[in-house]
Amino acid sequence: MKTQVAIIGAGPAGLLLGQLLHNAGIDTLILERQTPDYVLGRIRAGVLEQGMVELLRQAGVSQRMDTEGLVHGGFELALDGRQVHIDLHTLTGGKTVMIYGQTEVTRDLMAARREAGAQTIYQAAKVVPHGMKTDEAFVTFEKDGETWRLDCDYIAGCDGFHGVARQSIPAESLKVFERIYPFGWLGILADTPPVHDELVYARHERGFALCSMRSPTRTRYYLQVPTSDHVDNWSDQRFWDELKTRLPQALADKLVTGPSIEKSIAPLRSFVVEPMQYGRMFLVGDAAHIVPPTGAKGLNLAASDVSTLFNILLKVYRENRVDLLEKYSQICLRRVWKAERFSWWMTSMLHRFDEHDAFSQRIAESELEYFIDSEAGRKTIAENYVGLPYEAIE
Ligand code: APR
Ligand code: PHB
Repeated sequence: MKTQVAIIGAGPAGLLLGQLLHNAGIDTLILERQTPDYVLGRIRAGVLEQGMVELLRQAGVSQRMDTEGLVHGGFELALDGRQVHIDLHTLTGGKTVMIYGQTEVTRDLMAARREAGAQTIYQAAKVVPHGMKTDEAFVTFEKDGETWRLDCDYIAGCDGFHGVARQSIPAESLKVFERIYPFGWLGILADTPPVHDELVYARHERGFALCSMRSPTRTRYYLQVPTSDHVDNWSDQRFWDELKTRLPQALADKLVTGPSIEKSIAPLRSFVVEPMQYGRMFLVGDAAHIVPPTGAKGLNLAASDVSTLFNILLKVYRENRVDLLEKYSQICLRRVWKAERFSWWMTSMLHRFDEHDAFSQRIAESELEYFIDSEAGRKTIAENYVGLPYEAIE
């Protein structure tokens, strides 16, 4: 088998890169370990920055998002009972975010790829990239018990945090930066109307809480819990009771509860590898970096990596600008680190850290209060939340 760009992983990063390249007449083949249903069964993020929204439009997969997605011009911070509105639209000179679930983005990208007749091999086992440092890169995999070899010009490792791409790079060629937080997020999905028309990020002495949504009838709520906690300890009733405790009274009184459709605990982690490239193989999205979800940056960073790689490959194939290939990592990392910083900061400001002494606790409270009481501070939060600009590829 042969293709121009072999893509490992059919998550949002792999599918979006595949769609943009396909539309530009560049041949791709995607190898995915799981089935389509498994990929769509994962409940992930739900806030799209304007840059990602525009990229989805450019890829021609925005029709349903533009009809069903909810444009949000702000969000709410609830700080130990006090409520502050962060007016994204005014503070950023007109920018907004789009509330549209990653599951739906993935569903739309899968449909577009099917319609375009571009190939994805699902349930591809033992995917391994080879020859990345040579002029003969290829990927081997097993499908239905048979072993295959896929020859290619380039490999895009879009296979998430646990994927094979990063693990195939010799350890001495990568530098790892990591922080593991001493808590996780317990999330539930429910068919209930949202408690508020915008997202609410709540800091409380018992721990952080977030009220998010997927649509006017479907909500996604989160609670900070210890890493050692287990979903079995959380009946729906206990979840709703704890959420009400952590919200300002006016919101708690409005909260509509109902049976959960999904309930899971995700650990919080900051992680970056440098560089995001090894010869002819490029790491994209979660394969190269993880952020704690507090800033809603994970999916959006995957999109900005895709944009960078797509624009570089376009110039490589159309103008033979092979000099750009080695710039991929440095261009991505500049934006990645800014989002890592913002996600770490939002996490630090809004969560309860049991190991913090009383002084550190007050400093964190005071820092956030300074930011929200100052217009410059609110602008900084808003500018980062809507997403920093994508760098032009020249
Ligand atoms: N071979 C083939 N496919 C693989 C392999 C492998 N060895 N390992 C993982 N995959 C697949 C996974 O099954 C998954 O479908 O790669 C895909 C990676 O998708 P994601 O984990 O969703 O990562 P990414 O596309 O980078 O999406 C960005 O943003 O909101 C965050 O973490 C959230 O998933 C989200 C991410
Ligand atoms: C979500 O809706 O899942 C979500 C929203 C905002 C975040 C994190 C997660 O910061």
